[in-house]
Amino acid sequence: MRAVVLGAAAGGGFPQWNSNAEACRRARRGDPAARSRTQASLAVSGDGERWFLINASPDLRQQIEARPCLHPRVGLRSSPIEGVILTGADVDAVGGLLHMRERQAFALYATQRMLDVLEANPIFEVLSPECVRRYAVPLGESFQPRHVDESGSGLEVELFDVPGKVALWLEAGRPLDELAGAPGDTVGVEVRSNGKRLLYIPGCAAINEALRHRLREASVVLFDGTLWQDDEMIRQGLGPKSGRRMGHMSVSGPDGTLAAFRDIPVGRKILIHINNSNPILLDDSRERAGVEKEGWEVAYDGMEVQP
Ligand code: MLT
Ligand code: MN
Repeated sequence: MRAVVLGAAAGGGFPQWNSNAEACRRARRGDPAARSRTQASLAVSGDGERWFLINASPDLRQQIEARPCLHPRVGLRSSPIEGVILTGADVDAVGGLLHMRERQAFALYATQRMLDVLEANPIFEVLSPECVRRYAVPLGESFQPRHVDESGSGLEVELFDVPGKVALWLEAGRPLDELAGAPGDTVGVEVRSNGKRLLYIPGCAAINEALRHRLREASVVLFDGTLWQDDEMIRQGLGPKSGRRMGHMSVSGPDGTLAAFRDIPVGRKILIHINNSNPILLDDSRERAGVEKEGWEVAYDGMEVQP
């Protein structure tokens, strides 16, 4: 199995288009310690030739151009992208589907609840049903994604429920206590091949027992690194929302990701889906040194992961 980080930032990217914060200014200046990052997405491949995307970020067009392995290689029109697997219906997970509208065959794998959201939104009809097959994937059941030519991918994939939140754009009209959504609104993806297990979990509100159990002994975990501190957006004057309100647990603190993983043995731990307010994005920050000291890596666009 091969995996490539197409984008490592959270929704909005780094720098975010309307952010004039110091970190974003450093990224815009080309400061090598403040590397720009596009919105989170991972490409996985069983054969190193044909790829499945986990989420289609709004930056997908740019991500494809940046990664030669995703360029067309055959005939006048083709793509090595054989499918897209979704972890949610947020804009940063589905926005890129609109880039994939040029009558190219691929498969879309998601929970029934995510497919219902796409179905209810006619803009996604740009993905013609003649070209794009949509598969409803039950939670907790493995499947083997196939290439468009029906050959096997060599990958075994499973979607599993994680504590999360309904997509931001679907919040309207829901009472606060229903924002967590239902099973199938926010999922993680487990990809298995040759005895290796890669877990991709870009959004996670808490680590419960089921998740803790699944994380144990994974070869690689790419995990929600949205915020350093729950109230950092409020403190930095960037907005009124806490991480909890957005369905993201924070990296630091007693209930944070670093603390939770201290007693979960994992081969390789990588933070991804990192918001532009999170100081771990900066190579020279104290917080970056802190996560590295605990054995975490911070994802960047183009990072190769070979579980
Ligand atoms: C999130 O991860 O909280 C969402 O992607 C927010 C957004 O849609 O920008
Ligand atoms: Mn997001």
